[in-house]
Amino acid sequence: MLAATVVVASAATTPIYLDESRPIEERVDDLLPRLTLDEKLAIIHAQSKFSSAGVARLGIPTFWTDDGPHGVRPDVLWDEWEQAGATNDSCVAFPALTCLAATWHPELAHRYGVALGEEARYRGKDMILGPGVNIYRTPLNGRNFEYMGEDPCLASLMVVPYVRGLQSLGVSACIKHYALNNNEHERHTTNVVVDDRALHEIYLPAFKAAVQQGGAWAIMGAYNLYNNEHLCHNRVMLNDILKRDWQFDGVVVSDWGGAHDTWQAINNGLDMEFGTWTDGLSEGARNAYDNYHLALPYKKLLLEGKVPMATLDEKVRRVLRLMMRTTLATRPRGSMCSQEHYQTARDVAAEGIVLLKNDKNLLPIDPARHRRVLVVGENAIKMMTVGGGSSSLKAQHEILPLDGLRQRLEADGVTVDYARGYVGDPTGEYNGVTTGQSLKDDRPAAVLLAEAVEKARQADVVIFIGGLNKAAFQDSEGDDHKSYGLPYNQDQLIEALARANKNLVVVNISGNAVAMPWRGQVPAIVQGWFLGSEAGTSLARVLVGDDNPSGKLPFSWYERLEDCGAHSVGDYPGTRRADENIWDEHYREGIYVGYRWLDKNKLKPAFAFGHGLSYTTFALSNAHLTGNTATVTVTNTGRRAGSEVVQLYITDVKSSVDRPAKELKAFKKVHLQPGESQVLTFDITRDMLSYYDSNSGQWTAEPGDFIVRLGTASDRLPINLKFKLQ
Ligand code: GLC
Repeated sequence: MLAATVVVASAATTPIYLDESRPIEERVDDLLPRLTLDEKLAIIHAQSKFSSAGVARLGIPTFWTDDGPHGVRPDVLWDEWEQAGATNDSCVAFPALTCLAATWHPELAHRYGVALGEEARYRGKDMILGPGVNIYRTPLNGRNFEYMGEDPCLASLMVVPYVRGLQSLGVSACIKHYALNNNEHERHTTNVVVDDRALHEIYLPAFKAAVQQGGAWAIMGAYNLYNNEHLCHNRVMLNDILKRDWQFDGVVVSDWGGAHDTWQAINNGLDMEFGTWTDGLSEGARNAYDNYHLALPYKKLLLEGKVPMATLDEKVRRVLRLMMRTTLATRPRGSMCSQEHYQTARDVAAEGIVLLKNDKNLLPIDPARHRRVLVVGENAIKMMTVGGGSSSLKAQHEILPLDGLRQRLEADGVTVDYARGYVGDPTGEYNGVTTGQSLKDDRPAAVLLAEAVEKARQADVVIFIGGLNKAAFQDSEGDDHKSYGLPYNQDQLIEALARANKNLVVVNISGNAVAMPWRGQVPAIVQGWFLGSEAGTSLARVLVGDDNPSGKLPFSWYERLEDCGAHSVGDYPGTRRADENIWDEHYREGIYVGYRWLDKNKLKPAFAFGHGLSYTTFALSNAHLTGNTATVTVTNTGRRAGSEVVQLYITDVKSSVDRPAKELKAFKKVHLQPGESQVLTFDITRDMLSYYDSNSGQWTAEPGDFIVRLGTASDRLPINLKFKLQ
């Protein structure tokens, strides 16, 4: 009889909030009244650098967040940015999100999210602080490498599968930085002034897609201001647009130190406060978590009856809902540093690397013809997984470009020599994680250049690997590039190499476009991105032709900085107010960002949005419109397998408002064997035809003539299918 009694008893004591067979809302309703006021306040703000409290007496675990979008950051000390010095938290560093966007391959984004989620689960993290989807408005932005390019459609279609993949592991995404954080200079004090159409047509769509199609469980407020309110507690952006209009049921997390005002933090939509600098804006160990805006100051106002308990309960509901989805859910265990994860990293890199130019088919390197290869440049030997700000990682390994090329080419008996060419940033440390590299080289620049040029004369082919790095004022959080040109006199070196050897390949490692004054003298140019743990392997595979490149640019590559709207009229980086430390940055270019700006002003980029070559060729044919469906056949007309991205843009021939000449509205990537064809269909929806009407606040598709434009780059759209919207 005892056994039966015990069974009955245990079934009766499982509280509803822990019963996963119940709907989440029912579990939240059961748990909320069980919490004391102090417990409610404890779970809506940080208790350490990256965690917030659970409720121990009810068996609710601590909630752990961690950076970042490209891999799981090493554990830090309880209340410090410094890494804790653990020896079991080295991770896989996946390619940066600009590279992922350049794959134009949503299924890969899902695989990326799953792999990152598995690493996060294994490391006991309940929320990854990413992905970032801030639009690439200026090529100077230090953090563009963490984001998905200039176009809202591309960023939307790539972020949704990433979020779904990540959250399928029971790890919350935290979409950032919501919103209008499009450059780093004065990021805490910049008040962005932007018209409603640009806000809704350009800067918000990827966040909206992540929330509504991706089902994101959390979103991170940005540091900057909009309507003179910080985005971490911004009434219009959080209460009105995110929670009312988009019906977001998740949690708004502050950026670390992004909350500045108790009253606004309470009333303007903030749900979890992290990183606040209490104690007179001091950082670090003196953070007194009880002094957070959503801690004792909040409790005081509640007890004085100055703010309603209902507002607190709404925040707590959202946090409890997040817990039901993560710490209180049965979840996969995850895995770390598995071969599957490394393969995902290699696949993203292989499909994200962009072949920008390839005159005389210099690439791929042919071991039979190219017996002596010279590699030049610091980025061939410099680790890029350490540094750059919060996305910095402690990678289990990082295969460098030179090592990857040597490993691949010497297997075919090719001699691979190296010359430094220039010295850029020989350091390599971030929050206590060091690369262990000694890149110091005191030789004068002229000596380095002369050595590279002399060796170039002897080589069959020269591969220059340079670009930017993760040092301050380069591709790094916290500030922007000082200029559009390459640093460290690389232009002079590239021009000298081009004179010394006509078989020159330039590989640019960066998350941004840079000026290329030598472009006409260089037969082959590759955009190499920050590729993570498998950088060298992936780059070598593409340069030698084991992988056929299929990446397409996720942003326009301006010839000159003044060809970019943000720098032509757009007021970057804004103007400091006379009487306070606030910068007003007017997005005067409005909706005309990237190719939209170039089209409007009839400017030609060095390389267009959506551009990318292949080692094979493709043709489009049999395009037609049947009803709302556009159909086109794509054929691999070359001699080797490869992938192509067919892109669909829409032109509104005549509208009552000014609209861009064309806008990306869909794309499909196909992999084809030589001679193989595939028929692609695209459903044309009203949404694709609509613009945001600032007066009505609605999306509107005006009757009239439209054109569906199909091609393989924004400047290569040979097919135009006209139709009339009734
Ligand atoms: C940083 C970044 C944010 C990051 C957070 C925690 O300042 O802006 O992207 O997730 O703080 O490191």
